[in-house]
Amino acid sequence: MPVQNQVRARPDSYHEELRADVRAGLTATPKTLPPKYFYDERGSLLFDEITRLPEYYPTRAETSILHQHAAEIAELSRCESLVELGSGTSTKTGLLLRALLERGTLREFIPLDVDSAVLTDAAETLAAQYPGLWLAPVVGDFEHDLHAVPPGGRRMIAFLGSTIGNLEPSARAGLLGEVASTLGAGDTFLLGTDLVKDVARLLRAYDDAAGVTAEFNRNVLCVVNRELGADFKPDRFDHVALWDPGNEWIEMRLRAVGEQLVTIRDLDLSVRFAAGEELRTEISAKFRRDGLRAELAAAGLETVRFWTDRDGDFGLTLARLAPARRRS
Ligand code: AVJ
Repeated sequence: MPVQNQVRARPDSYHEELRADVRAGLTATPKTLPPKYFYDERGSLLFDEITRLPEYYPTRAETSILHQHAAEIAELSRCESLVELGSGTSTKTGLLLRALLERGTLREFIPLDVDSAVLTDAAETLAAQYPGLWLAPVVGDFEHDLHAVPPGGRRMIAFLGSTIGNLEPSARAGLLGEVASTLGAGDTFLLGTDLVKDVARLLRAYDDAAGVTAEFNRNVLCVVNRELGADFKPDRFDHVALWDPGNEWIEMRLRAVGEQLVTIRDLDLSVRFAAGEELRTEISAKFRRDGLRAELAAAGLETVRFWTDRDGDFGLTLARLAPARRRS
């Protein structure tokens, strides 16, 4: 099977980063933890379950757009190499791979993910499904490791699932700038973004009746307990999802039920939570068509096409370097 050994963007610095991030986040006011630590094995399974919940529309909406427009995307990009940032299980990517293979241009698929295990599984599945495709997985963090993606051929960089919504505007600008500087003339960028909509529907998508999102949210405490020898009691934190109208993002928080003292052994750190104190665990920004176009333009990217699903819930943008950038 044509699967290349995984390339590691950097020496495994997961623990070092986790330590620094947890110390910074838990000593800040208000307290925060970065959403990327949701995704250990259990967290990835819980997220998978979320994507199938009746309330969580984004995955279905994005899949329907890909379904409907994959051939057009393939025609517009004609890429030889598909790079997917934060690829995870690569389930939706199959729609793109098939269309690109049918178009006859695609040679290789480069999934980039922080989780080496999920990459191994995905590569195995894809190798069986698409025997002609060269698979070159990269273990890395899309915020820092784009430079580790090997060059070659006409490329499309895909960043699906509205994962970009986890980043604050300044970090988004940084990432889009990195993407722009990775693209050459003829290359394209495919970006999936959840769109601003009825607040009640948004809130339901992040606070489902079955409580799966609540478990997913608390899972970050389980990760910190296991990886850093902390003693969080996850069931003493309530799941909170709220809409921030100024920033147009959903925030997930964990609210301490009663006062708590938590020790993070590996950090020699104890932190106090007042009763009702909230720890911010995720932002999930929602976008508007005009705002997106402007953010892309600010990074030197020009929108080629914008698609939504029938209900206008989710957006998929194909972009390329803006003319001024293509010449330089
Ligand atoms: C994977 C970041 C796109 O923000 O909707 C799902 C994660 N959080 N439910 C999102 C998530 C709560 C998801 N992303």
